[in-house]
Amino acid sequence: MNESIKRAAEIIGAAQNAVALTGAGISTESGIPDFRSPGGLWTKIDPGEFSIDRFLQNPARFWKMSLDLKNSGEFDLASAVPNAAHYSLANMENRGIIKCVITQNVDNLHQKAGSVEVVEFHGNLLRAVCMKCKALEPMEKVEQRISSGQQETPRCNRCSGLLKPDAVFFGEPIPSKALMISQIQSQKCDALLVIGTSLQVFPAAQIPIAAKMKAPPAHIIEINREPSALHDQITDLLLLGSAGEIMSELDSLLS
Ligand code: APR
Ligand code: ZN
Repeated sequence: MNESIKRAAEIIGAAQNAVALTGAGISTESGIPDFRSPGGLWTKIDPGEFSIDRFLQNPARFWKMSLDLKNSGEFDLASAVPNAAHYSLANMENRGIIKCVITQNVDNLHQKAGSVEVVEFHGNLLRAVCMKCKALEPMEKVEQRISSGQQETPRCNRCSGLLKPDAVFFGEPIPSKALMISQIQSQKCDALLVIGTSLQVFPAAQIPIAAKMKAPPAHIIEINREPSALHDQITDLLLLGSAGEIMSELDSLLS
């Protein structure tokens, strides 16, 4: 057990308001590719495909692409299962050690692992939302309507408005409730675990900055295979390695 992990456990154990910010790197050990690592999603698909303008130009084309991605097994969120890192965070919340998880991920794996206080900063791809009346529908039902040929462009069951995945597309705002809660948590936290994120996307990357810039600053503990883009500005303790392994060690030290 290395000294840094022991030190991280001491900080988290002594914290009154420890919070976690997670990114795609926490889900790679569940078989979901991240975005910017070699082989990541953005090395295969143009991120512009996930811009709201491109979606609105041709919704049927987007829906077909996303169904193909799911059926290829490349990005099948519905059948993905949480890994040790997700379960460790849920255990820590259960024991009152972690107060909430702010996630950039849209894979629902924190909830599947049992985390309750989850802030979906970029929404959740297991749901579709009506762009007109905001009604929500389970993604699997919407995908059934497309694959059965019933609807090429899925429409809302309630008002026939256009349905889109309930994830934040490039060019869309962060859901206001998620933004507000994250700002409150970044001010309240005295320890912030930043797990599996390159911190290259704002405003999510603003969360650890805000936690670090306040007085007194929160302890920023980064868990990543490689240093994030902001590590030299904000990180107090950098734990390099697998999120699953490191989080399991922390979980056992804190149980
Ligand atoms: N253990 C620890 N770290 C890991 C692991 C792992 N098993 N697998 C990957 N990582 C690290 C990578 O080294 C990288 O630093 O996780 C980070 C993932 O970074 P990104 O792929 O950039 O993902 P993320 O930071 O979540 O992206 C933020 O960008 O495109 C948008 O909306 C998308 O929410 C996403 C946002
Ligand atoms: Zn509707």
